[in-house]
Amino acid sequence: MLSIAVSKGRLLDSFAEILEKAQYPCDVLQEETRKLVVESSQAGLRFILAKPADVPTYVEYGAADLGVVGKDTLAEADKNVAELLDLDYGRCTMIVAVPQSLGITDVSELDFNSRVASKYPGIATEFFNRKGIQVEVIPLHGSIELGPLIGLSEAIVDITETGRTLVENGLVVIDSIMESTSRLVANRVSLKVKRQEITNLVNAIEGVL
Ligand code: PRP
Repeated sequence: MLSIAVSKGRLLDSFAEILEKAQYPCDVLQEETRKLVVESSQAGLRFILAKPADVPTYVEYGAADLGVVGKDTLAEADKNVAELLDLDYGRCTMIVAVPQSLGITDVSELDFNSRVASKYPGIATEFFNRKGIQVEVIPLHGSIELGPLIGLSEAIVDITETGRTLVENGLVVIDSIMESTSRLVANRVSLKVKRQEITNLVNAIEGVL
């Protein structure tokens, strides 16, 4: 049996749909449950229902053979896992945004030591270091757009999908850092000891994609 760390929510439905089409039936994922581990013996899959940011950790330590996680979260976690497939859903862009009222159109116009709130402090720090711009990155866990609204930060680094949250909070994009989609990742040891099972699953998913 292969174990897969996934996170609950909208994106799990997309993955469940891919598995069904790949002939790995997983009705268990549709069931309303508080269980944190669910199995589909028919598909030979055990699902570990984790928080998104923890998925790379479960996979790196081998607590899960595989994981499904956004490229944004994967890049921030910086874990030693093998990226197997771009699942091509959950597309979003990581951006730098500021209040429209600031009248800034480029990151180079940010004041020295500007504060930047983000759920992705590692990626944000790396981005501004690469640009040679001195900022103070303030880690937050969610609702990042609040930062500039209440005077915590001048800018944010966050993901945007439809752009609605930015617009409704008076923020404008001044740079893009990366595109992100959901990825299938694997533990490096599992990749060797469960090679055949993983290859079969990857090939079936690739067929669907
Ligand atoms: C994400 C992101 C933005 C929002 C963007 O938040 O952090 O806040 O979605 O989506 P949009 O461009 O379609 O408006 P999420 O819903 O994951 O919650 P969070 O803010 O608590 O992280």
